[in-house]
Amino acid sequence: MSAEAQFAAYVSKNIEGIGKDTAFLGLSSIWVREAIRHNYAQNFTWLGRPVIQVPQDVYAIQELIWTCRPDLIIETGIAHGGSLVLSASMLAMLDYCDAVAAGTVLDPKASRRKVVGVDIDIRAHNRAGIEAHPLAHKIKTIEGSSIAPEVFEKVRAHAEGYERIIVFLDSNHTHEHVLAELELYAPLTSKGSYCVVWDTGVEDLPDEMCANRPWGKGDNPKTAVWEYLKRLSGEGRTAADGAKLQFATDKTIEHKIVITASADGFLRRI
Ligand SMILES: C[S@@+](CC[C@H](N)C(=O)[O-])C[C@H]1O[C@@H](n2cnc3c(N)ncnc32)[C@H](O)[C@@H]1O
Repeated sequence: MSAEAQFAAYVSKNIEGIGKDTAFLGLSSIWVREAIRHNYAQNFTWLGRPVIQVPQDVYAIQELIWTCRPDLIIETGIAHGGSLVLSASMLAMLDYCDAVAAGTVLDPKASRRKVVGVDIDIRAHNRAGIEAHPLAHKIKTIEGSSIAPEVFEKVRAHAEGYERIIVFLDSNHTHEHVLAELELYAPLTSKGSYCVVWDTGVEDLPDEMCANRPWGKGDNPKTAVWEYLKRLSGEGRTAADGAKLQFATDKTIEHKIVITASADGFLRRI
């Protein structure tokens, strides 16, 4: 076994061990809950734009993008634009590394790798910040509800011709909305790639922490994921590429990062 393979096996064992350590996992979920009381996930920026993600999830995003090498990332929920800039920066990094590997000079505007973001309300200052960002050429924004047929049709049309697509769902966190998003957007995920449903952790919060929200225990992204996976195995669905759509919940990512807002939310298309 090569040294690289040996190290990968060692890391896998670490992760497997964490997955079995209920005390450590339990402690971490308490940490996540308490962090939410302080709006901790809102404390960070990515290349200058506020991003609403816990840093461990950002690490997961980096690994997913590096591994899946998408040419298109579809995101619902833009807010300040930080997650769009994060995705765009990783796509730019793939472009850069490809150019280095090929020994060519990178023309940043020639790459077709893009991120498409949808938000029902792109505030003027956020739009201005996104448009002024040096990575704006890799970002396309669409304003409207992610589940409105005409909005989805724009995203679907944009996705035509792209082969490796990652989907990130992070907009309205009610069961009904996320389930509708999964029905629309999950089929666009390419084989071997991911559809990540953020903020599934709402299911594990005490009721009082969601008192002023339309979502809460029993009505949130995690319940939508559970229902969607049930539909996939019961009724079946067809992916945009015509193949049978199947997802597996990737617990390895969860057990690697441990602290996540999105337990059960990392869906790998198999
Ligand atoms: C949690 S924030 C997104 C955070 C962003 N992905 C990030 O990581 O920085 C949720 C966003 O979803 C948007 N939103 C709410 N309902 C929506 C809907 N029906 N369609 C699209 N976006 C929606 C809100 O306007 C808000 O900007």
